[in-house]
Amino acid sequence: MYTHYTHIQCREKVFAPFLFQILIHFMHAFLIWTFRFSLSATPGSREHDPSSQQVTKRHRKLLKTSPVRRPHTNSSHSPSSSSSSRRLSDVQESRRRIIREVCGKYRSNISRTITPHHVSRIYVEDRHKLLYCEVPKAGCSNWKRILMVLAGVANSTREINHVAVHYDNHLKRLDSFDHQGISKRLETYTKVLFIREPMERLVSAFRDKFESPNSYYHPVFGKPIISKYRVNASQTALKTGSGVTFREFIHYLLDVHRPVGMDIHWEAANQLCSPCHLHYDFIGKVETLEEDANFLLRKIGAPENLTYPSFKDGNPKAARTSTQITQHYFSLLNASERQRAYDFYYMDYLMFNYSKPYKDLY
Ligand SMILES: *[C@@H]1O[C@H](CO)[C@@H](O)[C@H](O)[C@H]1NC(C)=O
Ligand SMILES: *[C@@H]1O[C@H](CO)[C@@H](O)[C@H](O)[C@H]1NC(C)=O
Ligand SMILES: *[C@@H]1O[C@H](CO)[C@@H](O)[C@H](O)[C@H]1NC(C)=O
Ligand SMILES: *[C@@H]1O[C@H](CO)[C@@H](O)[C@H](O)[C@H]1NC(C)=O
Ligand SMILES: *[C@@H]1O[C@H](CO)[C@@H](O)[C@H](O)[C@H]1NC(C)=O
Ligand SMILES: *[C@@H]1O[C@H](CO)[C@@H](O)[C@H](O)[C@H]1NC(C)=O
Ligand SMILES: *[C@@H]1O[C@H](CO)[C@@H](O)[C@H](O)[C@H]1NC(C)=O
Repeated sequence: MYTHYTHIQCREKVFAPFLFQILIHFMHAFLIWTFRFSLSATPGSREHDPSSQQVTKRHRKLLKTSPVRRPHTNSSHSPSSSSSSRRLSDVQESRRRIIREVCGKYRSNISRTITPHHVSRIYVEDRHKLLYCEVPKAGCSNWKRILMVLAGVANSTREINHVAVHYDNHLKRLDSFDHQGISKRLETYTKVLFIREPMERLVSAFRDKFESPNSYYHPVFGKPIISKYRVNASQTALKTGSGVTFREFIHYLLDVHRPVGMDIHWEAANQLCSPCHLHYDFIGKVETLEEDANFLLRKIGAPENLTYPSFKDGNPKAARTSTQITQHYFSLLNASERQRAYDFYYMDYLMFNYSKPYKDLY
């Protein structure tokens, strides 16, 4: 069932019917109700001494199949890499600190209970003890390729095509494990999150889902958006749901009575990955993607020849969404619409220390 749900992840065409999403929401609610368990991970625990863990049978098996980890200090890197690695460690420390501070300040009242919903976006790689929380439009297709290679499902990221990434990835989600399996992994694995400037992510999602033919997003989201926000819509537009404008899309996003629900491609990253509940060890940014990703890969003892690939999924003809492209789209909005869009992603801006994208925002 979750395999099917996976198809709604970062890909252009999705065939899962919308009713299915609703069903999943009910299932989640039911699971949360029946399957609560408390968080036993210590806040801020980053490095774990495996010897201090109780070693179970399964754990032993995992250790056996894990590749031998090189000590971080004596790597075969060039001499300059140690200072760059120190700098990147410092960057990580400050990213974690900002999240802690923002969570402490704005989310002081969050429950300490972790439900399967909180971990439903997290992919598991047992051999390298990695938990990757998927944020669509923030490099997630290439991260799935990396996870597949780490897991031994593929030999190289080059040989994994876009369809395999999303339909045949053999990757497990953290919520597919039982209570104990989830807790154990949350306590001992490296928890990773990759994020992106929120407005660029939003524009990227819009371009990807609405500006080229899409057999899921046009009928499921396009139709109700055009029918609610376009005056004098043509019969064709109402029938196909194609041709949603950025402004119409923003009106939908900011509407308290949306005619159709939210979607993971434009849901705020902090809603998808619950950084106030799960204490992520590593926060990568798309703006420094390759540097962050490769630093992480070396840290977890990935094979030396495995590096973050530069494939562009999605429409190959369209340019990657840049700051300039994003500014163009936002110039189509008026000042109050821009402000409200910023407010919508305000927690992501704070937690991940992105600066205000426009001077006139407050
Ligand atoms: C690590 O490197 C240092 C100096 O570069 C060297 O003295 C030490 O023997 C090395 N340790 C191992 C385990 O190779
Ligand atoms: C937290 O929220 C609950 C209800 O949601 C409230 O009863 C409680 O007083 C709040 N605690 C703090 C510290 O704000
Ligand atoms: C990886 O390469 C080996 C040897 O070349 C081959 O036997 C194996 O089938 C390959 N695995 C995958 C998943 O392609
Ligand atoms: C990395 O090296 C391994 C063998 O050490 C090989 O099987 C694999 O194909 C290589 N991967 C890439 C991406 O070259
Ligand atoms: C909608 O179409 C009607 C008839 O074509 C026209 O009279 C009216 O001005 C249009 N309204 C808007 C807001 O474009
Ligand atoms: C901006 O557009 C909205 C409609 O989305 C409108 O209600 C509002 O008055 C406009 N604001 C300004 C400052 O033009
Ligand atoms: C947060 O972002 C600002 C502006 O980009 C930067 O100057 C500052 O150093 C960052 N803060 C931390 C703690 O990284």
